[in-house]
Amino acid sequence: MAYLGDSQNTLRELLAGDGRLKLLGYQKVRYDTNWKSYTDNDGYHAPLLHQAFKMLNWQGGNGRQFTATKRGHICFESALSVAHGPTVLKDKSLIEFKGQDPAVGSRIVSLFPTFVSTKHLDVINLRFATPIDAETVEVHYVYFAHQDDDEDMVRHRLRQSSNLLGPCGLISMEDASIFHRIHIGNHTPGSAIFQKGVHDPLKLESEFLQNDESGNLPRWEYYRSVMGFERAAA
Ligand SMILES: [Fe+2]
Repeated sequence: MAYLGDSQNTLRELLAGDGRLKLLGYQKVRYDTNWKSYTDNDGYHAPLLHQAFKMLNWQGGNGRQFTATKRGHICFESALSVAHGPTVLKDKSLIEFKGQDPAVGSRIVSLFPTFVSTKHLDVINLRFATPIDAETVEVHYVYFAHQDDDEDMVRHRLRQSSNLLGPCGLISMEDASIFHRIHIGNHTPGSAIFQKGVHDPLKLESEFLQNDESGNLPRWEYYRSVMGFERAAA
């Protein structure tokens, strides 16, 4: 419990409230990027870079992000937003929300260094990332239903999971492209600096606006301390 810190409640909501889950299956994806680029996240990339969200007329709901412990864990909580009037899908059930409470519709818990769990719409997903080499990270996706789901709900979760995430997922395929472009960009001489939401570069905060990129900083500060790296002179 001390390890999970303030992520416990978010994780509980993510795991359908009581954690009584039923395994649906596994997928894996190899991303052409370094594992450290894979683990960075920011709230604002979704409407800017995910063309699928634009095509589906799908905007995010209100939310926040916060640091769960000093070990670099980070949580995202946001209300669910359901796409309005998408015309590009013949079968709109792929992005239908059948859950009970839109207020807990979207949750992400990212545990240092490479574990991520997500709940979006009716998808319940855990991800374990393994660095293959400096250019490649392999991510294993695990999908769940709830034990009380009827047959239709299990099938719905299965279809939605594999259409949003994994090798054929509309979210993951676009992330793959973005990860790779960031990886190429990271070979450019110089430094990549998180700026959005940073008020004082020398002060770590624990609460962030939903779309800030400063939520990545506590994780990298913990990484620096674990690795024994000295902080570069300002
Ligand atoms: Fe993304």
